[in-house]
Amino acid sequence: MLDVRNLSVAISATTILHDVSFSADAGAVTVIVGPNGSGKTTLLKAMTGELPYSGTIKLDGADIKSYSTAALAARRAVLPQATALAFPFTVLEVIRLGLSAGLYADDTNLPKRALAHVGLSGFEGRFYHALSGGEQQRCQLARVLVQVWQPVRDGKPASLFLDEPVSALDIGHQLEVMQIARGFADAGGSVVAVMHDLNLTAMFADSVALLAKGRMVIQDRPANVLSDAHLSAAYRCDVRVNKAPPKSRGIPFILPHMASTTGTKIV
Ligand SMILES: Nc1ncnc2c1ncn2[C@@H]1O[C@H](COP(=O)(O)OP(=O)(O)O)[C@@H](O)[C@H]1O
Ligand SMILES: [Mg+2]
Repeated sequence: MLDVRNLSVAISATTILHDVSFSADAGAVTVIVGPNGSGKTTLLKAMTGELPYSGTIKLDGADIKSYSTAALAARRAVLPQATALAFPFTVLEVIRLGLSAGLYADDTNLPKRALAHVGLSGFEGRFYHALSGGEQQRCQLARVLVQVWQPVRDGKPASLFLDEPVSALDIGHQLEVMQIARGFADAGGSVVAVMHDLNLTAMFADSVALLAKGRMVIQDRPANVLSDAHLSAAYRCDVRVNKAPPKSRGIPFILPHMASTTGTKIV
């Protein structure tokens, strides 16, 4: 559904992404992992049309440059890594930003349903600035959900692009948000998420793309990407991948061991 070939991105004469290829299918959760500064956010921004690039990005076989802004907004919603609001918006006003961008502006009941979906029932009148970091993150998730509420509409799958959607959340809410992403994909939509948590990635991803230093190391099934060798090389520390017992569905869990580089001694 989303097909990225030979993508390169340069910002101020520095090449940030080198010849990256990537794909994301409808009905799947595709997770991008990699160390800080490896280019995950840059890749996401290029794919959502926010950055100039060379190479090709196709959505359902058509170049994303051929989509109008409105057509793209109807097909995909983007949760950025950080969202700064210049005005003292209420939660409902934030949700309405997503509503007006997509195809569901007439559904007055939707904000309430979306807030319930992210565990923020009754928060409509609260000021966004007065929410905790985790509540703000879930409010932003509700905003993107109302933009592309139906994972498939008129036979066409919608996409969610989520940049570190669980970074401010406790483990209970992390699981809730990942289950929302899973549900969107299971209903036929596409989810592309940037994640730092390799264990949640192992639990929820259908496909994992590992970036390091602006290059795509590998994109494949989680079991093939989340290996000692790939992770230790990319993260430059000793990472061990273990298997949970069969009653936990044998999902791998990942533990860092000793850093391979010499640390600074604190005296
Ligand atoms: N606007 C920019 N100007 C200059 N360098 C940038 C800019 N945006 C990102 N970079 C650099 O590009 C690299 C990748 O950044 P980013 O995609 O945000 O990484 P990640 O999301 O993987 O942590 C980093 O080294 C970052 O400093
Ligand atoms: Mg980032």
